[in-house]
Amino acid sequence: MSVTGSALLAGVMGWPISHSLSPRLHGYWLREHNIHGDYVPLPVAPSNLEHALRALPSLGFRGVNLTVPHKEAGLPLMDSVSDIARRIGAINTVFVSGEGELSGTNTDAHGFIENLRLNAPTWRKNDGAAVVLGAGGAARAVVAALIDAQVPKVLLLNRTVAKAEQLAKAIGGSIKVVDWGDRDEAIKNAMLLVNTTTLGMVNQPKLEISLSALPKIAIVNDLVYSPLETELLRAARQMGLQTVDGLGMLLHQAVPGFEGWFGIRPVVTNGLRDVVLKST
Ligand code: ATR
Repeated sequence: MSVTGSALLAGVMGWPISHSLSPRLHGYWLREHNIHGDYVPLPVAPSNLEHALRALPSLGFRGVNLTVPHKEAGLPLMDSVSDIARRIGAINTVFVSGEGELSGTNTDAHGFIENLRLNAPTWRKNDGAAVVLGAGGAARAVVAALIDAQVPKVLLLNRTVAKAEQLAKAIGGSIKVVDWGDRDEAIKNAMLLVNTTTLGMVNQPKLEISLSALPKIAIVNDLVYSPLETELLRAARQMGLQTVDGLGMLLHQAVPGFEGWFGIRPVVTNGLRDVVLKST
């Protein structure tokens, strides 16, 4: 479909940007809702981020997503920042107001918890800890979401323990840092295990963990979606545990941005999943 000057515009800034799945995702919803708009990949080098963001109002953009490596760097460039983005320390979604002001938020925590709520409705969050592996940017959003969901205790394990401690301090709440080497025991009595590390991703080392201590009613969620069924998820499935894959979080985090830019709250469907999966 060709766009005219009246099209509603949004996009994603990253460096590089060619691997982003977001144009396909938002493009699907734009077509589904017959919206005259476009969502474009914007290759923006780190040194150009401020200029590129400040140009959005005059270019007529409704907003953008920010992806690697701009999520942290974009935060201080905003005119206003949501509380959740401040706690996570990163923004992934920018809205341009009618006055040309930029407001930043982070929808990853929403995407994570919404995906879990819909795909693991049997999760007994009050009955045991949630164990989070990793302490990078994705882990910050996951831990913030779990604390906000009032999970009684989050056990946080990371190869670099100092990063886990920093994360726990920044987010606050009932977070206990556990040694990375103790992961097989840490999952005993846990109701949820989430992998936010890059382990298990294509071309990355395997995540070494034994799930045998995990209760049979526990949920295992891997944020890695390439491959869609990681070795962690396969092992969990073979033990009869309920699994949640990483693609859902990516799809659900996109909902608030689309709604803010294009005025319709879209729904995550299997049709959308199939279209996005084709490009992973
Ligand atoms: P993201 O923003 O997607 O969370 P990231 O910030 O690069 O990505 O974080 C990657 C996570 O994977 C980190 O928790 C990292 O552990 P360190 O903080 O110790 O680097 C973890 N990770 C990557 N490779 C790892 C490995 N070989 N063993 C254990 N953890 C690993």
